[in-house]
Amino acid sequence: MRYTEELIEEIRTKNDIVDVISSYVKLQKKGSNHMGLCPFHNEKTPSFSVSQNRQMYHCFGCGVGGNVVTFIMEYENYTFVEALKLLAARVGIQLPETEESEEGKRQASLRARLLEINKEAAKYYFFQLKSKSGQAAYDYLINRKLSMDTMKEFGLGYANKTGDDLYQYLKHLGYEDTVLKESGLITYEESKNKVYDKFWNRVMFPIMDVNNRVIGFGGRVMGDGLPKYLNSPETKLFDKSRNLYGLNFARIARKPYIIICEGYMDVIALHQAGFRNAVASLGTAFTGLQANLLKRYTQEVLLTYDSDGAGIKAAIRAIPILKEAGLTARVINMKPYKDPDEFIKALGAEEFQKRIDSAENAFFFEISVLEQEYDLKDPEQKTRFYNEIAKKMLTFTEELERNNYIEAIADKYNIGFDNLRKLVNRYGAQLTVGQLEAKERSGDGSKQKVKREDGIKQSQKILLSWLIDDTTIFNKIKGIIEPIDFTEELYKQVADMLFTQYYTEHAVTPAKIINRFESKEEQNEVASLFTAGVAGPLNQLERNKALEETVIRIKKNSLEMQSKQAIEQNDIQRLQEIIVKQRELQNLHISL
Ligand code: GTP
Ligand code: MN
Repeated sequence: MRYTEELIEEIRTKNDIVDVISSYVKLQKKGSNHMGLCPFHNEKTPSFSVSQNRQMYHCFGCGVGGNVVTFIMEYENYTFVEALKLLAARVGIQLPETEESEEGKRQASLRARLLEINKEAAKYYFFQLKSKSGQAAYDYLINRKLSMDTMKEFGLGYANKTGDDLYQYLKHLGYEDTVLKESGLITYEESKNKVYDKFWNRVMFPIMDVNNRVIGFGGRVMGDGLPKYLNSPETKLFDKSRNLYGLNFARIARKPYIIICEGYMDVIALHQAGFRNAVASLGTAFTGLQANLLKRYTQEVLLTYDSDGAGIKAAIRAIPILKEAGLTARVINMKPYKDPDEFIKALGAEEFQKRIDSAENAFFFEISVLEQEYDLKDPEQKTRFYNEIAKKMLTFTEELERNNYIEAIADKYNIGFDNLRKLVNRYGAQLTVGQLEAKERSGDGSKQKVKREDGIKQSQKILLSWLIDDTTIFNKIKGIIEPIDFTEELYKQVADMLFTQYYTEHAVTPAKIINRFESKEEQNEVASLFTAGVAGPLNQLERNKALEETVIRIKKNSLEMQSKQAIEQNDIQRLQEIIVKQRELQNLHISL
């Protein structure tokens, strides 16, 4: 870390978290917390909670959490150092200049310059669109039924026919070739010693990140030329697989789902028709990174890919990716129109809303696509189709959910619930046997073991959150639980810091701990520890019992691990000590 811990702490403590977050999110005091609508996912009822006492935030809906520094990092998409700078400036703290490495400084300034260049280029294209030379482009967009307001909101523009005027303009603004080369907007043909604009005589669509910063462009020809769309190449700012067009608007649309479509024009047409929760993957196949990005803002996704073969294929590919990220998906039927843009132009917003309301569950959609491959009049093919359905059913690991689907599909295809269930169970059994064999071969742990590990992890988490909630528990567990008893590496680190804080300062400062963790995943996980309520409200007796059980579980697990180690190291004396401790544990009683 480049700044001293004291300095980081000073910046953090001087920036009250409620003050800072209030300037981004409307907060309301509820008991000891402040609540608001989470800025990191779409919701209608507040589950975003900010604690002034602890100087932490946490969202019960999407699981994000942290302190004032991580909030700025998440919200502004800043690095740690950028967030510190913003917060330092906010409270008038001067940061020492020299502490940043030369390379770090160079990278940060390059990114900042590239963002400026993209913004200048977007302004330039927009200006061109409204100028005389942009008349044809303007007419083109009007022809496609876009209003001036929509053009403005999406910052649409025009790259004119002159071969290098954007280049000349950017040079005139003082940007050097070394930086322009990395912008993706200018083509340098070294061999001919020629420089020209990448986009030429095209309607321009600026691509913005979630914080409304222009990171790239798409450009469309106005006639039938090829390629129809030309996109910015990957740059330091622009990574197609990590961004979604329109997400900057969709994420604040306050709708319970997000609509995914294929093209720029689809997103824009949907927004203009009032569906502000539409996004598009940028002319590439939908990625897991994009699914994870969406998961931050919503639980459910509606697919409205083109209704042609390619669109159906794309949807079939996207569904498991969405499911993997924990999103539920439905598929909108746009027939007889090709895409949302055409649909809305032909039938209007109300009809589209009806299609949204009747969107098909993703699993049913998958099955009906599968159905196309079989001729159900042929008994043999029909049997094969039913077998495929049964196999697919196994993707539902929850029995209740699986049975619900068996019921629905059996009903739809007139198979008979029991028949289909038998078929599913048969595949299930085959699979289980196969898995067991595979496991024996690889010596892998069983499912039960995974469950047990989850339970122990949960216990460690609960104990940590209790310790933060009520520091008198430190005394109750003295001599029984130590940081090394937390076998989960992340929790061990947190326990270490908490125990040290408690025994040196007689108080714990959770918000201080967050900065020690560098990855967002770790920060979120640690933050979730500090927002308590893990076990819900309990009475005295229940609390006592819960604490005792939790402590015993953690210690037992820790001793088991230690004894395994002692056996491995052939340390008999250590093993004997552990056995004594294990015996003592049986008579342990803790009271609050
Ligand atoms: P319009 O014809 O303007 O309505 O576009 P569309 O969105 O209906 O086009 P289409 O369904 O053909 O393409 C969907 C998306 O794929 C576009 O918005 C682009 O992002 C991308 N795309 C289409 N054609 C090309 C191309 O030639 N090159 C690249 N890189 N991307 C393309
Ligand atoms: Mn279209």
